[in-house]
Amino acid sequence: MRSCLILLMAFVPIFTFAQDEFLYGTFPDGFMWGAATAAYQVEGGWDADGKGESIWDRMVHSDPGSILNQDTGDIAADSYHKYAEDVAALKETGVDFYRFSLSWSRLLPTGRVDVVNEAGVAFYNALIDALLANGVQPMVTLYHWDLPQPLEDQGGWLNETLIVPAFAEYAAFAFEAFGDRVKLWLTLNEPWVQAVMGYGNGGNAPRVVGSGITDYLSGLNQLKAHAEAWHVYNEQFRPTQAGQCAITLDVVWMEPKTQLALDIEAAERSLQFKLGWFAHPIFSLEGDYPASMKEAVARHSAEEGYPESRLPEMGEEWRLRILGTSDFFGLNHYTTSLVEHSVWPGTGTSFDRDQDTTQSADPAWPESSLGWLKVVPWGFRKALNWIKSEYGDVPVWITENGYADLGELQDLDRISFYRAYIDEVLKAVVLDGCNVVGYTAWSILDNFEWTQGYSQKFGLYQVDFNDPSRPRTRKESAIAYAQIISDNGFPQP
Ligand SMILES: *[C@@H]1O[C@H](CO)[C@@H](O)[C@H](O)[C@H]1NC(C)=O
Repeated sequence: MRSCLILLMAFVPIFTFAQDEFLYGTFPDGFMWGAATAAYQVEGGWDADGKGESIWDRMVHSDPGSILNQDTGDIAADSYHKYAEDVAALKETGVDFYRFSLSWSRLLPTGRVDVVNEAGVAFYNALIDALLANGVQPMVTLYHWDLPQPLEDQGGWLNETLIVPAFAEYAAFAFEAFGDRVKLWLTLNEPWVQAVMGYGNGGNAPRVVGSGITDYLSGLNQLKAHAEAWHVYNEQFRPTQAGQCAITLDVVWMEPKTQLALDIEAAERSLQFKLGWFAHPIFSLEGDYPASMKEAVARHSAEEGYPESRLPEMGEEWRLRILGTSDFFGLNHYTTSLVEHSVWPGTGTSFDRDQDTTQSADPAWPESSLGWLKVVPWGFRKALNWIKSEYGDVPVWITENGYADLGELQDLDRISFYRAYIDEVLKAVVLDGCNVVGYTAWSILDNFEWTQGYSQKFGLYQVDFNDPSRPRTRKESAIAYAQIISDNGFPQP
């Protein structure tokens, strides 16, 4: 037995690609390269020309202490006025597409379609036309966390009878206004973050606190709203516009901390609570939430004396209505966690407690300037393989991946990050047969990093936030990314 093991260990490196070894090679022809932003993080012009108030406007103004250094997105990178410079940066980088989001309240100040802000429509028309004139395809996110405040005042993502029709109407409005030129649509960005932080632990706008209850409710309403928007596109717009409509989900790769069966199972359960919560209802064969998540929340709810599971039932009609409502799998990925099984002591109700896990980071992993963002490239390949094994051959479009630092122009750590992470995507495609069709760098330019304000920089282009004219300056990483794009990967030197 013992010699057998030694023999196996000796042979393993011959048959598998060593984890951190660099793979030279290129992506399939037609692989799509892009860069991304989101409206609240770059646009500024928070009340310009008839724009309504969003939940992020409300949060930064009513509770300035909630944002590091009391920063706000009032001006941000001023892309509302300087979008032509953003387009120039995208063109200089050589991207195929630009992923940006529409500010719902810039288009519809009350959130409903009966009041249209024509200046907002004109702004996005100008941006889309400038992109196309420069050979850059728009990829448009309908919703990147900036709910119109008037909708939040009526319960926001917790009010199904409000939000599901309101989002579907807004989606129809956007498809109608821009769908002649926009062929790549994303409904929601990272519903997990909006549910857990916006409507669970109170970290993000609208700062609702109700972990283990309201997070699950907002999650279900997001799934329903997404599905309705997709059906609107599928039935009313696809026949004439012929584009694609999808959702974008975020995954942290969950690596078992040990090889004990309990820890392996805990890591799997964490993936289901992270990605499966939203992916299983849409991309699996049978739909509905993942079984392990349903079981865990039901068991904790019973132990805590709730008459029924805090994870609201999807119901048969909605299970079928949500199933299959994404033309590709939008994926945001940044980092990895180590997961171990652990039953939390004491009592209480929370989303984290429901999972019976503890997450940590390996102290050997390189850090970024953001505490949660450890540099673990190999987790990316594992995540892509997990998606393939869970959901089959659905095309995956990586819609965000990037690195945070303090903003230097000689950003060599960002270059290392992109090379290593993109190389893991290459391995997933070339060695593992994962169906990845596109990659998006977060972000084309420095921007408002939510509650971290401007302290954290993700840009390929630097923005000077102390200068009223918000000048953009190309970083070393923009040059390196442009090279990767023009090589379509990493050809043998
Ligand atoms: C939920 O939305 C409906 C429909 O817009 C509205 O009548 C109702 O008052 C809202 N509920 C709450 C709690 O605001």
